[in-house]
Parts: sequence; structure tokens; C-alpha cells
Amino acid sequence: MSRTTYYTATSLDGFIADEHHSLDWLVTQDIDPKGPMSHDEFMGRVGALVMGSSTYQWLLDNHIAKGGSWDYKQPSWVMTSRERELARVEGADIRFASGDVRPVHAAAAAVAGDLDIWVVGGGDLAGQFVDAGLLDDVIVSFAPVTLGTGAPLLPRKLDLRLVELAQNRAFACARYDVVGPRTPSS
Ligand SMILES: NC(=O)c1ccc[n+]([C@@H]2O[C@H](COP(=O)([O-])OP(=O)(O)OC[C@H]3O[C@@H](n4cnc5c(N)ncnc54)[C@H](OP(=O)(O)O)[C@@H]3O)[C@@H](O)[C@H]2O)c1
Repeated sequence: MSRTTYYTATSLDGFIADEHHSLDWLVTQDIDPKGPMSHDEFMGRVGALVMGSSTYQWLLDNHIAKGGSWDYKQPSWVMTSRERELARVEGADIRFASGDVRPVHAAAAAVAGDLDIWVVGGGDLAGQFVDAGLLDDVIVSFAPVTLGTGAPLLPRKLDLRLVELAQNRAFACARYDVVGPRTPSS
């Protein structure tokens, strides 16, 4: 059955990028690309992606502008209110959308079929999926670093259930099912 998953890496204090949108603290960490809960393993079951415009811009600046290619064959939705300002990537299946994430999720689910939908980030976009009751789980790789400030991992008040734990070299990796918004008594 298809799941909608927020898969990301975070600092120990809950930031997915520093205050300058840098991931230098992350990409320098030791990881086995074929190890437990790795990106490669996860991508094998992804049928569609959804990301915010800052994440898209990071990919443009750090991969495409340096001669890299768009890594994803799956259709990728980019959420933005500034579609005309954002650069395109030749040959990539990128679809721009704005506003309510529910129609985006429906379109992504239609192309993903039995495969999963990857909510790439950022944290508030993942939160929008939670708000709509559409996020099934969160897979987080914790890097052994604190940043103090930056882009938040998931700025919502939620209850989650830990369902899987692994170490991948420098990273502590965890998968949580989303239970729902925190209730006053929880
Ligand atoms: N650690 C990791 O593994 C990881 C993973 C993913 C991302 N990142 C990084 O984390 C940072 C995340 O940046 P961020 O917090 O700014 O989040 P983001 O989701 O990448 O970008 C947020 C922007 O997306 C647009 N947006 C989001 N939802 C929208 C909606 N429903 N309708 C229209 N537009 C919408 C808005 O910009 P506009 O409307 O102005 O376009 C919003 O300001 C980036 O630096 C990214 O590279 C890290």
C-alpha cells in the first residue's frame, strides 16, 4: 500500500538546514549509501516527490548549477507562489503547484500507484500534509551535530509512534508513524 512519507535528515536539535540554507554540516557526515534506512533503499519505493521551493532552489544551486543532473525519474511537484521566478531543469518531470496540498497529494498518488510519495521538505510543507491528515510516517536520520538555529524539522505539535531504529555509521535513523495532533491530555 502506498504511504506518504517525510524522509529527511536533521541535526540533533531539529534543524534540516542552517540559517543560510546550508547542508555542509550534513553532506560531510559518514554514511553507508547502501546501509540501513539509506536514501538509496528508500528511493526504491518512491513513485512521486513533493518539495517546497527552498528545497528545489537548493538542488538547483548545489547540483544543477554545478553540472549535475536531476536525480529523479519520478514526477516531482514543487510548491511555490513564484513559479515564474524559478528556473526549470531540462528533461526533468517537475510540476509547479501552490496552495492546498490535497489536490497535489491526489495527483501524486495517481502517478505513484502502489509506490510511496516522498515529502522531501521543508518542515512546514510536511506540516501541511499532517494538517490535511495525509502524512503516514516520518523517517529521520539524526546527524551528530547541533546547529542552534535554522530550518525546523517539523514545526507542529504531534504525537508519533517509533516503529524502527537503526544506525548507519554517523547517523541514528528512526521511523515514526504519525499518530496525529497532540491532544491536551497527551
Ligand atoms: N536535511 C535534509 O535532508 C533536507 C531535506 C529537505 C530540505 N532541506 C533543506 O531545508 C531547507 C528547507 O527550507 P524551508 O524551510 O524554506 O522549506 P521549503 O518547503 O523547501 O520551502 C518553503 C517555501 O516553499 C513555498 N511553499 C511551501 N508550501 C507552499 C504552498 N502550499 N503553496 C505555495 N508555496 C508553498 C513557499 O515559498 P514561495 O511561495 O515563495 O516559493 C515557502 O516559503 C532548504 O534549505 C532545503 O535545502 C534539507
